[in-house]
Amino acid sequence: MQSALDPGGHEAREVASLFWVMLAGAGLVWSAVMGLAVYATRIRPDPHEEKVGHRLILWGGVAFPVVVLAGLLLYGLPLMTTLREPGEGLRIDVSGEQFWFRVTYRPKDGAPVASANEIRMPVGERVEFALTAPDVIHSFWIPSLGGKVDMIPGRENRLVLKAERPGSYRGVCAEFCGASHALMAFTVVAMEKPDFDAWLARQSAPPIEDAGAATGKELFVNNGCGACHRVSGTEAKGEVGPDLTRFGERGTVGAGLLPNTRDNVVRFIRETDALKPRVKMPAYPALSIEDTAAIAAYLGSLK
Ligand code: CUA
Repeated sequence: MQSALDPGGHEAREVASLFWVMLAGAGLVWSAVMGLAVYATRIRPDPHEEKVGHRLILWGGVAFPVVVLAGLLLYGLPLMTTLREPGEGLRIDVSGEQFWFRVTYRPKDGAPVASANEIRMPVGERVEFALTAPDVIHSFWIPSLGGKVDMIPGRENRLVLKAERPGSYRGVCAEFCGASHALMAFTVVAMEKPDFDAWLARQSAPPIEDAGAATGKELFVNNGCGACHRVSGTEAKGEVGPDLTRFGERGTVGAGLLPNTRDNVVRFIRETDALKPRVKMPAYPALSIEDTAAIAAYLGSLK
């Protein structure tokens, strides 16, 4: 789901009602001004009608818009403080990078947990997002959960969001950041609090991999994938690209690009630059299809 007018959270609901109130206000001003414009085309040059015309310009063209716009301002201003209330415990660092999202959960007690391109959060809790970027300006936007906030190199912007119902919400990069800007998305999974706590607690242990995926694991490590990607509990300790520790749990491959199926992972490894222009990961067409499929099977088994 990705719509600012279909709110799934507190902040998004405030933004959606602000939109409707603004639309009503704008409709009122528009109708008044258009009505007067039509009236003006019919006015005749006689002293009485000119006097009426002047009065209408003063009241309809100046006083009425001032009152309506001031009303909208007074309605909108307090929102700025309600949308700036602090979070309640869980903090999630998100870094926008060309062209994916680095995610680090920082629970109040417990070690940080690394992930990418998918964010899980508990329903009913104000979660604080710390947003930054290492390369260029990106923007973090989950339309159904709240307003967008820029991710700026050298700065840390804060955004607090509260999901009110469980579900899957689509987030996007909302600032042009290069050739694959439009292919930079993520999924937010809002879970009931006990489910989320259990999920987060599981993250500190290395992922469970299929016994049958041993070949893929060896290929993954020996072909240098680990120079850029990390899989907790293995030799792969790279920090440049997305952490793949529980890749099999994610819904998409390539930051929202394709559904996470084995075939799509194979395609992504072999045609990276064609699927996602200017991405840092090189394509590996030289790897055989069988080897690539084994790597994809290994990654898909990580849960
Ligand atoms: Cu990142 Cu647009």
